[in-house]
Amino acid sequence: MSKADKYKDKVVLADCLSKLKKIDDNIFDHCITDPPYNISGYDNKKEIGWYKSNNVWKGDKKFLKINENWDNFSDKEYFDFCYEWISEITRVVKLNGNIMIFGSYHNIYKIGFILELLGLKIVNSLIWYKRNAFPNITQRMFCESTEQIIWAVNNSKAKAKNWTFNYKVMKELTPNKKQMRNMWDIPMTSIKEKTYGKHPSQKPLEVLGRLILGCTNADELIIDPFCGSGTTAVSAKINGRHYYIIDRNKEYIELTKKRLKSTIIQLPHSL
Ligand SMILES: C[S@@+](CC[C@H](N)C(=O)[O-])C[C@H]1O[C@@H](n2cnc3c(N)ncnc32)[C@H](O)[C@@H]1O
Repeated sequence: MSKADKYKDKVVLADCLSKLKKIDDNIFDHCITDPPYNISGYDNKKEIGWYKSNNVWKGDKKFLKINENWDNFSDKEYFDFCYEWISEITRVVKLNGNIMIFGSYHNIYKIGFILELLGLKIVNSLIWYKRNAFPNITQRMFCESTEQIIWAVNNSKAKAKNWTFNYKVMKELTPNKKQMRNMWDIPMTSIKEKTYGKHPSQKPLEVLGRLILGCTNADELIIDPFCGSGTTAVSAKINGRHYYIIDRNKEYIELTKKRLKSTIIQLPHSL
């Protein structure tokens, strides 16, 4: 039994920082994660913008905007928190493993800055274009319709090498069999992916499927320290990879377990 085997296909209820600190070095092949974006709490600070939209979206249309205590930090707290968990991730992921982190304009520059401070090689930033994103009714800005994923390699710019990228698999997924570009037009998570319950920031399986098929190999072990409803693990299972995922919210862990139980491995590759 290898050191990594004891981490395979585990769903862990814990605070990720304390859990990560107990994990040995160089265990995971890759990290794919969607951390808190620090966008909660804003509405109550200023009675403008989203606060007005909320009356329509939360009241009339029953839209759930994120306002969670796990997503509410001061700028400094958020930076320090991210610095700490990303540093731990660079320790527990193998050299030259992929580290892929979701964000929006609210947090992605901080995440990118931290990856730069840690000296990691950044390969791409991927744009997830949500053509059906909620309209912005404040008329004070463009309608925000994208999220980003920064793809870094767990090594320095000078030394990074042999990172996983399944070029041909990605090419096959495009309609005209041309190179896959870094802007992905994928609708927001559909209701049918929420059969077992709702999470306020559940990501679509298609986005995770592309990351997993494109940037990891079969049987590899992926860590997600902020698993939410478990989309990373569900996609890993569908595509024949292993997962080790953490969330500190019991309700989300239960939801993840239900999703995983109903998931079947679909090989050869499937999204
Ligand atoms: C953006 S959500 C992830 C959503 C996920 N990608 C999905 O598709 O459902 C972030 C998650 O991080 C969890 N979280 C926040 N802080 C945490 C911490 N310190 N340790 C573990 N989990 C944490 C929250 O409970 C939340 O479910």
